[in-house]
Amino acid sequence: MLATGTSPLTKTDSYEALSHELAEAIVKQLREKPTSCFGLPTGNTPIGCYKLLSRYSQMGALDWSRAHCFQLDEYVDAAADEQTFAHFLDSNLLGATNVPDENRYSPNDYNNYDELIESRGGLDLTVLGIGHNGHIAFNEPGTPRMSWTHSVWLTESTRHANKSYFGGQTVVPRRAVTMGIETILSSRKLILIASGRDKQEILERAMLGNVTPEVPASFLSLHPHVTVITDFEV
Ligand code: GLP
Repeated sequence: MLATGTSPLTKTDSYEALSHELAEAIVKQLREKPTSCFGLPTGNTPIGCYKLLSRYSQMGALDWSRAHCFQLDEYVDAAADEQTFAHFLDSNLLGATNVPDENRYSPNDYNNYDELIESRGGLDLTVLGIGHNGHIAFNEPGTPRMSWTHSVWLTESTRHANKSYFGGQTVVPRRAVTMGIETILSSRKLILIASGRDKQEILERAMLGNVTPEVPASFLSLHPHVTVITDFEV
């Protein structure tokens, strides 16, 4: 564990090790507080961790029956259910767990997601990936710090990065709803994950550069309990 900027950094040797590290943190949180509220990301980076958690859950080693799982974000205009982040989380993790259906939340389904989160006790642990342009959840560059859950227009670079899920740029949704920066910073603990050399430059800007809306992930350095897990040197 190294101290880089204000964030403890866990540098692992491989994607598998990153996945184990993240899974361990989630398991610890769930065991210490079975009623935990989790903020969960989509994307490729958490998939290895989700596979591990799915396996532990199916083996009966994890009890999620009192946990609450909040999606970080969701497309507003996905053409099919299979393209939604709700579907992604269900098929990669939640479907293998005993999180009750009523404890799985998408920001698309609520008028006041922040109030809902608050009413469930507030986020205990929120996991975030990072986009190549520094976005977290779908807070694109330019998002002010004082932002709660809101709807957004996606940048072309984000739509391009996510097009593998859609079979063609033209059908990638243009709009989404996302937790805001304040929603994320209100979580008691945060973990930022980044895998692959192509994330190195933006992660360094986020961790070591100025705190600026131009790099939304840089706001994370304002949080007292953020851990960064990578599989490369920073
Ligand atoms: C999407 C999601 C983000 C995620 C990002 C990075 O844009 N909205 O929450 O962090 O992708 O995804 P990946 O892990 O595939 O690089």
